[in-house]
Amino acid sequence: IDIDRFREDLISWFRHEQRSLPWREDQDPYKVWVSEIMLQQTRVDTVIPYFLRFMEQFPTIEALADADEDKVLKAWEGLGYYSRARNLQAAVREVKEKYNGVVPDSPKEIAGLKGVGPYTAGAILSIAYGIPEPAVDGNVMRVLSRILLIREDIAKPSSRRIFEEAVRKLISHESPSDFNQALMELGALICTPTSPSCLLCPVRDHCQAFHEGEQNNLPIKAKK
Ligand code: ADE
Repeated sequence: IDIDRFREDLISWFRHEQRSLPWREDQDPYKVWVSEIMLQQTRVDTVIPYFLRFMEQFPTIEALADADEDKVLKAWEGLGYYSRARNLQAAVREVKEKYNGVVPDSPKEIAGLKGVGPYTAGAILSIAYGIPEPAVDGNVMRVLSRILLIREDIAKPSSRRIFEEAVRKLISHESPSDFNQALMELGALICTPTSPSCLLCPVRDHCQAFHEGEQNNLPIKAKK
């Protein structure tokens, strides 16, 4: 793989074709954080109106930290997985007290926040702060398993590490935010779980699975 050309093709596609999404309007780490938590178990179309209402009701770290928990849970109603909302508020309170209301920009500190796993930490660091950290979720594993022909079982928890190492080698240090979001966007729009649209793919020339005709056999995902 020619890494420079791959990056360039991926990022320039993203800059032209990305969806306008409300959490892409600015790089406020709080907004990136809330959106990534909402998007973890919920589809983009469902999240949009919840995100917009949440930001009206709790526009800042301070506002969310000071809110009553039942107001927060009420705003989350319908999204499900309510522990996400409880953890988010607990973590935001910690940011208010311990970090002066500023979301930390160090991988260690950010990963120590309640409910912030490696994916969310990487998303906040790269998208809000421009730090070249991987943000690997299931979609990104699918996309990379095809491009790099990685035959690891993506259902195994230990596989995420392997994909993170792959991202560390590939990620653009100029534009880590666009790079990570481009992988997510490619997974959402082109490199879908079933019948990926390889003929429309901006990086198919770099894709080993496409080259081998293996795109429909990847990722490897063992049944539970
Ligand atoms: N899924 C997870 N994070 C996302 C993001 N930032 N934009 C679009 N879809 C996503």
